[in-house]
Amino acid sequence: MQVVLTGGNRGIGAQMTSQLRARGETVVATSRDGSTGSTLDVTDTAQLSAFAAEFEDPLDLLICNAGVYLDKGQSLGNGYAAQAWADTFSVNVTGVFQTIEALLPALRRSSAPKIAVLASQMGSSERAGGNAFIYRASKAAAVNLTRNLAIDLKPQGVAVGAYHPGWVQTDIGGMEADIDAATSAAGLITQFDLLGPDHTGVFENYDGAVMPF
Ligand SMILES: NC(=O)c1ccc[n+]([C@@H]2O[C@H](COP(=O)([O-])OP(=O)(O)OC[C@H]3O[C@@H](n4cnc5c(N)ncnc54)[C@H](OP(=O)(O)O)[C@@H]3O)[C@@H](O)[C@H]2O)c1
Repeated sequence: MQVVLTGGNRGIGAQMTSQLRARGETVVATSRDGSTGSTLDVTDTAQLSAFAAEFEDPLDLLICNAGVYLDKGQSLGNGYAAQAWADTFSVNVTGVFQTIEALLPALRRSSAPKIAVLASQMGSSERAGGNAFIYRASKAAAVNLTRNLAIDLKPQGVAVGAYHPGWVQTDIGGMEADIDAATSAAGLITQFDLLGPDHTGVFENYDGAVMPF
């Protein structure tokens, strides 16, 4: 299986990369700093176009993992700056959409193409918990994007899913989080294996539980 993963230099992305490679998959892990061997800032449309143009193989699985959580700990009346909204949506929403759009030709070359988007339970409106308005809104938008892409891409055989990786011990999750990145990555990969034409438009936890929208 040929995989492309964004944000592969640390956190859950680095773990998914090493676990997928360990079971024999070919993974192009991208990073902003190029430390993974493939440079890609998902907010840079020129980089996205160049990356996609050079990618000639059929792409079986695109994992949109790159994300930012810029408003952690901010409070109403003292934070949530317009620039933080713009910067967050640029990575977590526009960046996801433009990565998918750029790589659609490669996905269409696969016989069983799939797109997995790392969203968050913080994007669930049913599980609204207050605070972190920017991050929550961006992840809600990412889930919505995934659902709608799944509709449009179903006739072309491209399956699309949104995933909550758990509360994970990374820079975004913090070290007090519930699970380590290896546990999250292993669970996510199991769920990605189940994604397909008859199981698309899903929003799932890393352990397979259905997430409420
Ligand atoms: N950890 C959790 O508890 C948790 C819970 C729910 C959802 N998530 C989601 O899971 C995904 C992975 O998060 P993580 O916990 O592994 O966080 P992390 O350790 O902070 O890693 C985030 C990754 O995203 C990359 N990134 C940020 N902006 C980028 C950009 N413009 N272009 C390309 N890459 C960019 C980072 O690259 P740099 O090193 O260059 O910054 C890094 O590789 C994110 O989408 C996050 O929102 C995490």
